[in-house]
Amino acid sequence: MAMDDTHATITEAMEENQRLVFAANGERFELSSVDPSITLLQFLRSHTRFKSVKLGCGEGGCGACNVLLSKFDSKLEQVEDYTVSSCLTLLCSVNGCSITTTEGLGNSKDGFHSIHQRFAGFHASQCGFCTPGMCVSLFSSLVNAEKTARPEPPLGFSKITALEAEKSISGNLCRCTGFRPIADVCKSFASDVDMEDLGLNSFWKKGEPADSKLQKLPFYDPKQICTYPEFLKKDYKSPLHLKYHTSSWHTPLSIEELKSMLISISAEKYMRVKLVVGNTGVGYYKEVEDYDKYIDLRFVPELSTIKRTGSQIEVGATVSISKLIFALKVQSNVDSCPDGDMVFHKIASHLEKIASKSVQNAASVGGNLVMAQRLGFPSDIATVLLAVKSKVTIMTGLEKEVLTLEDFLAQPALDSRSLLLNVHIPFLKSTKDGFSDESDTKLIFETYRASPRPLGNALAYLNAAFLAEVSPRESGNVINNIRLAFGAFGTKHATRASKVENYLVGKTLSVGLLYEAVKLIRATVQPQDGTSHPAYRSSLAASFLFEFLLPLVHLGTSKIDGCIDISTTNSPEISSRMTFDNGERTLLSSSKQMLESSHEHYPVGEPVIKSGAAIQASGEAVFVDDIPSPMNCLHGAFIYSTNPLARVNGVELKKDIHGVVSFRDIPKGGENIGPTIIFDPEPLFANELTECAGQRIAFAVADTQKNADIAADTAVVDYDTRDLEPPILTFEQAIEKSSFFEIPPFIDLSPIGDFSKGMAEADHQIHSAEIKFGSQYYFYMETQTALAVPDEDNCMVVYSSTQIPEFTQSVIARCLDIPEHNVRVITRRVGGGFGGKAFKAMSVATACALAAYKYGRPVRTYVNRKADMIMAGGRHPMKINYTVGFKSDGKITALHLDILINAGMSPDISPFLPMNMVGALKKYNWGALSFNFKICKTNHSSKSAMRAPGEVQASFIAEAVIEHVASVLSIDVGSVRETNFHTFDSLRLFYGDAAGDPLEYTLPTIWNNLMTSSNFNDRVEMVKKFNQCNKWRKKGLSRLPILHEVSLRSTPGKVSILRDGSIVVEVGGIELGQGLWTKVKQMTAYCLRAIQCDGADALLDKVRVIQADTLSMVQGGFTSGSTTSESSCEAVKLCCNVLVERLVALKERLEAQMGLVTWDFLIQQANMQSVNLSASSFFVPEFTSMRYINYGAAVSEVEVNLLTGETKILQADIIYDCGQSLNPAVDLGQIEGAFVQGIGFFMLEEYLTNSDGLVIADSTWTYKIPTIDTIPKQLNVQILNNAHHKKRVLSSKASGEPPLLLAASVHCATRAAIKEARNQLHSWKKLDGYDSMFQLDVPATMPVVKTLCGLENIDFYLQSLLSSSGKR
Ligand SMILES: Cc1cc2nc3c(=O)[nH]c(=O)nc-3n(C[C@H](O)[C@H](O)[C@H](O)COP(=O)(O)OP(=O)(O)OC[C@H]3O[C@@H](n4cnc5c(N)ncnc54)[C@H](O)[C@@H]3O)c2cc1C
Ligand code: FES
Ligand code: FES
Repeated sequence: MAMDDTHATITEAMEENQRLVFAANGERFELSSVDPSITLLQFLRSHTRFKSVKLGCGEGGCGACNVLLSKFDSKLEQVEDYTVSSCLTLLCSVNGCSITTTEGLGNSKDGFHSIHQRFAGFHASQCGFCTPGMCVSLFSSLVNAEKTARPEPPLGFSKITALEAEKSISGNLCRCTGFRPIADVCKSFASDVDMEDLGLNSFWKKGEPADSKLQKLPFYDPKQICTYPEFLKKDYKSPLHLKYHTSSWHTPLSIEELKSMLISISAEKYMRVKLVVGNTGVGYYKEVEDYDKYIDLRFVPELSTIKRTGSQIEVGATVSISKLIFALKVQSNVDSCPDGDMVFHKIASHLEKIASKSVQNAASVGGNLVMAQRLGFPSDIATVLLAVKSKVTIMTGLEKEVLTLEDFLAQPALDSRSLLLNVHIPFLKSTKDGFSDESDTKLIFETYRASPRPLGNALAYLNAAFLAEVSPRESGNVINNIRLAFGAFGTKHATRASKVENYLVGKTLSVGLLYEAVKLIRATVQPQDGTSHPAYRSSLAASFLFEFLLPLVHLGTSKIDGCIDISTTNSPEISSRMTFDNGERTLLSSSKQMLESSHEHYPVGEPVIKSGAAIQASGEAVFVDDIPSPMNCLHGAFIYSTNPLARVNGVELKKDIHGVVSFRDIPKGGENIGPTIIFDPEPLFANELTECAGQRIAFAVADTQKNADIAADTAVVDYDTRDLEPPILTFEQAIEKSSFFEIPPFIDLSPIGDFSKGMAEADHQIHSAEIKFGSQYYFYMETQTALAVPDEDNCMVVYSSTQIPEFTQSVIARCLDIPEHNVRVITRRVGGGFGGKAFKAMSVATACALAAYKYGRPVRTYVNRKADMIMAGGRHPMKINYTVGFKSDGKITALHLDILINAGMSPDISPFLPMNMVGALKKYNWGALSFNFKICKTNHSSKSAMRAPGEVQASFIAEAVIEHVASVLSIDVGSVRETNFHTFDSLRLFYGDAAGDPLEYTLPTIWNNLMTSSNFNDRVEMVKKFNQCNKWRKKGLSRLPILHEVSLRSTPGKVSILRDGSIVVEVGGIELGQGLWTKVKQMTAYCLRAIQCDGADALLDKVRVIQADTLSMVQGGFTSGSTTSESSCEAVKLCCNVLVERLVALKERLEAQMGLVTWDFLIQQANMQSVNLSASSFFVPEFTSMRYINYGAAVSEVEVNLLTGETKILQADIIYDCGQSLNPAVDLGQIEGAFVQGIGFFMLEEYLTNSDGLVIADSTWTYKIPTIDTIPKQLNVQILNNAHHKKRVLSSKASGEPPLLLAASVHCATRAAIKEARNQLHSWKKLDGYDSMFQLDVPATMPVVKTLCGLENIDFYLQSLLSSSGKR
């Protein structure tokens, strides 16, 4: 077609189709005016009623926004269904598509889908913020499994396998549940599931036969949902040309059309053009600017096809990663060349670890390579394709050029008008492409990646792909050719280690050669300056090369050190691949939950389904940001400081917005007040002087959240540091300047016993040992959010996602200088808090209220993930120095600790931290215990409460001391623990009244039971054996106890019975996902059941707990400290007692007149007789019993990979004393969820800052919370359900925070495995004795573990081989 004709066609098409048509949950949408930069998520959330698509990160990293996208292929007459991240998908790109969100699967009106019902019934939704995305991910996998040609599954099952079902949610984050119940939901659909593997649920009772279980599962009908509505097939026209103000969206349909478009714009130098495919690139390279022209490349056939041409596969640049994976797998099934098959298969397996399914489905191969080439993105595709000699075709103007991938990557950055057309992946046979055709040669190909998450969804520290051709000779294997590609290690782009390749080619593989090659590769793979963990990354290169080549080295008689023969190819002993790569049937193996329900207080004690779980799954549960915006609503975003200490001269905005709010806008008489309760408040906004990086300076207010975010992001703050003292950023600086917050005198920090005497009694002493902790970020899935609506008469209604509405109300009132009764703070549910929505939420709500006050309009904010991470503060970093004295048998006689706590710029809750710490430190009988705390005031963001604040660090410190003592004495650490256990007498000495009665001290029973239930002694032996037989993997096992003191607080309650007999309850506590409402409902039903009328057993369904409202219920207090559920239950009990008293007399009168009385009738009569059917209470705990101790113990077993530093948690066994659990399902969820959050703290989460204290781990890219592939493969939890605790609320105990401390067992087990690795290294170094004196940092990330195992352990191993064979 001639150029002019093409233009004419384009123009026609533009005129023809200027409307975007798509469907969402079957509803038709037609838009003729669309901002091309708007995402599907923004549209769904702000222009439709489908609010289930949650914004968790906005960068493709969490899965909360996942939707199912369905496309109709008119040629094949087929519907294609797959998930995409709606936060990355541009709305214009869904033309002709059908979108299904979780609301589309089912809902409370039309009936829930079996996925929703199973999420509820398996207790797999806590706060519920992640649940909609999880449901969609699972649904998509089910839909696609049904399309396979697999045999029909039994009725009620899907064709999906259990492994696929688990993997379907591997890209979804959940911060509450710990994943085990979610995995159960997924597996429950799989036809190959073993029903015995499925954990606690509300459908069946333990021990029921599989058939009956299946019948009780909500029925799954694969045909239930039609994802693609008929009307779309008719309505949709493919090319789309939309104009919106000055920008436009184009979908060229042919390469000519695209060419002419590019040529026509090439003259327009200043036009901002974006070639777009999946748009997933913006997940990494955030865009603050919009473009003038968006050109969607996906409809150009030449770019979107995969062709087999002779000796290669040609992959169009817009082919998605998913499609390439599929094609490579198919290709490797049809071709007869085993080498080529093997290569394709391995490439496909590697690509499966890129991001998540929802990203792979949209992300194009070309987009990935362009990002790698243009911006240095740490791509896996580039590395893998580089190793197999791939080529690319580039088009610039009318010119096409074929380049090797290597040359392409090395070229100057591709300009925005040049096009990557396709990639050619050669079909490797040993005769082609430089590889010889000798008949006895062998082609070997492997790919590698080390990343914090084995299944992907995490960038690699290093990726690599190696291709070699070797010929076996008598002398050994000769390397004819080799290509070694490395990437993602802090290099501009993937590169080949040519020097090492040249060194190896033509040589016979031997230990000596390998040794030299390993040294050479380490020197070659060197990250650029500024890359994190450079030595670790280089060591990975050595590990991977070693792993690749060692099986080819003839070691002769290779039973070295009595270990298994390591020269066998694919021998697990030398493999860096751990279980997830070894083709196991499921990710998580069967887990056990042992819990007993107590029927004594029915329905209290029953594992009742969490209140609202089904509507959470269906996306109908309303979170603050789901409340529709009132008319004229404005949106705010925080402008925060990046400087730790500076005067703020001014803020310059680069974007035109409604306005900016700062401390200057606080009304006369109002205070510049942010988070506070009893200590000095933190200012709402920096008062001319900013005191930390991350401090709020101002609030940018705009018409949309996007505009507010861009304005805040691009604002330029003018700082001035002249004449200011340098900031205090380290503990040392705080000490030097005596910069401390005071610990209030009412906190009892008296020492126990006489430290000097204890030291004098000691046989051994350790002096000044040091422990350090960094911070941890909450990572609640719902970030901070609030909506403030001005009301009549100078009042303000604020919807806030807060754990403490009462104090939020007070701060808003003080800021606006209005009475508290003018401020109504409403909180219905919070999408995860973990302490982060206590103090920190106050400033968010207050900023909205101040802006609403200033503009007289509603103002809301939903803080984006980056800003949230930067401003949140998080857990307290600490530095501890301890001195300990002990006897030769391990009995500790004295312990002294100097504890420095980094509180940041304001006190927040920090002055209380010592109290929490001492409670957990006292877990052992130290003989004498003394401490010296310093709460350092620094120029860091103020640290706040995070689940088990202080307790988790203190409990770990105690374990570190025990481990240290055991190491010094070289005795079993378990026996040192036991030697220092409390007797009941010492417990009373250390804890006073909190110790309760002797029967309540259940730890010794727990400890012994755990020994048996976890099969501890046998496993110790098995671990020993494993370690003897394995060189590159070591196991560790650890068992430890916890004692965690909690305290009850006063709290209000109100129970009202309505005319129809339904019951409404208000409590001070907030539902954060911890099941507070559920327990409160159960307690209400139990207490009112005492009336004993007909139907009283079914009262549970009549109870509704409603949102907290500070004007309806005063003195709501805090929701924190693990005891709010039980206090709220107690408050409700008091109310119910009053109501029972009022109603029983009436019931008895009625019964005397007419026999059995129903509940409804009783209430009807009570109304007629003017009985007051509402009762309020204020529960005040008794002073002597308000404190108590929680007990638990855990055994964890881990496997550490000595080549990569990866730690896999094989099994964790937990026994936790919940007293007489109010709801064992809820408590189980708390135990598992807390444990997994603790794993995050101890093993994964690095909340890093730069030297100014500015958080740099500010995204899902850099901050890794646990996922389904990093939790224990087997997690067994037993809830010790006992009724010894007479002073507790119906004998129940807390479960929210204490189990988090148990995760230290994973850390200690890792330490044990590392100890084995170090001893082995010691022997390779020909050193005597053991190497057990080392410290394992928290978190024990891969680089930390590998460093301790020896960054050069391979070198020493090879050296030892060389010297034992006499070559050195
Ligand atoms: C959460 C997440 C995790 C990820 N993890 C990994 C990982 O572990 N390993 C890895 O390798 N990758 C990873 N990626 C990167 C991912 O593979 C890329 O984002 C994706 O492949 C880009 O494709 P796209 O179609 O979305 O490109 P777009 O976002 O549409 O485009 C990206 C850029 O390339 C340009 N472009 C696109 N196609 C062409 C073309 N044909 N010619 C010229 N320019 C073009 C665009 O203009 C844009 O500048 C991850 C991405 C996300 C979001
Ligand atoms: S919000 Fe889209 S993936 Fe997190
Ligand atoms: S339930 Fe998953 S994040 Fe809360």
